[in-house]
Amino acid sequence: MPSRHHVASESEFETTSEGRIITEIQGKEIAVFRIDEEYHGVLNYCVHQAGPLCEGRVTGDTQIAEDGWSWESTREDEIISCPWHAWKFDIKGGQCIDDDRYSVPTYEVEVEDGEIYVVA
Ligand code: FES
Repeated sequence: MPSRHHVASESEFETTSEGRIITEIQGKEIAVFRIDEEYHGVLNYCVHQAGPLCEGRVTGDTQIAEDGWSWESTREDEIISCPWHAWKFDIKGGQCIDDDRYSVPTYEVEVEDGEIYVVA
């Protein structure tokens, strides 16, 4: 049964995280990201070749614009790009952007009295 694991305070996240905190919980590295005002947990493990996924660059996605010719940016700061070969994953749901056959585990994150907890 999952239980809550303390990660940091919200103020620590603000000052030290550079957009994420990576912590070890039950032998797994899990990263906590904040998108807008919500926190999301992602396993720091890339399903491609086991790279440290969550140490990569936080980015967005692109799609063809309505005119059918140009590209437009979407989902800014909701995508993590693996530092090894740049596979991209949705931080909120874990799906691989490049190939929907793949995904990474994600974790619920709770905040109580300004303290951040991963449920794992
Ligand atoms: S190990 Fe992550 S893209 Fe290859």
